[in-house]
Amino acid sequence: MPRDWDRHYSDAANVDLMPDPLLVEVAEMAPAGEALDLASGPGRNAIYLASLGWRVTAVDRSAVAIGILRRRAAGLPVTTHASDLESGDFRIAPGAYDLICNFHYLHRDLFPLIREGVRPGGIFVAAIHMVDPAATGGPHSPAFLLNPGELRRQFADWKILFYSEARADTEKPQRRTARMVARRA
Ligand SMILES: C[S@@+](CC[C@H](N)C(=O)[O-])C[C@H]1O[C@@H](n2cnc3c(N)ncnc32)[C@H](O)[C@@H]1O
Repeated sequence: MPRDWDRHYSDAANVDLMPDPLLVEVAEMAPAGEALDLASGPGRNAIYLASLGWRVTAVDRSAVAIGILRRRAAGLPVTTHASDLESGDFRIAPGAYDLICNFHYLHRDLFPLIREGVRPGGIFVAAIHMVDPAATGGPHSPAFLLNPGELRRQFADWKILFYSEARADTEKPQRRTARMVARRA
């Protein structure tokens, strides 16, 4: 059964607003431009990017998450879409983005669209949970978990600037996560 994200975000304790450290590193090396945050949740990464001058499009199926994001992003260049990324309602426009973010969400059909959506010279940054028999929690369905090497293979013809499949001691639950920064040729 899919997780009830609206209910999850209705508890303020579940609203994490610290940007992902990998995204912070990417933002430090790239000039601000157009960014797309897929499955943004309440917008920890989208708001961070917008505060640096990025024009951000944030998409998430949870209306509660998008409501929180809209309130927090008031005055910042963030466009929001409460859309199901698996329905095709939101279309990733080809060549429209200098940066696409995909943190802790997996829908494999999006990879070809992400590849098209990033402009030549632009960046894709992702952190996505992997199959991990020793995980302490998180999703269990293989539909939501990457296999070893899978993320890297999807972008094999891009310049891989960073890639790891480590289990971070600081994260809860502890689960192997594929982290990647890749630049489109
Ligand atoms: C683990 S949270 C990650 C949120 C955010 N990327 C972050 O790192 O803080 C997963 C997010 O995926 C969203 N999500 C799940 N299925 C979705 C779908 N089909 N379309 C759009 N968003 C979806 C959920 O609403 C939730 O906000």
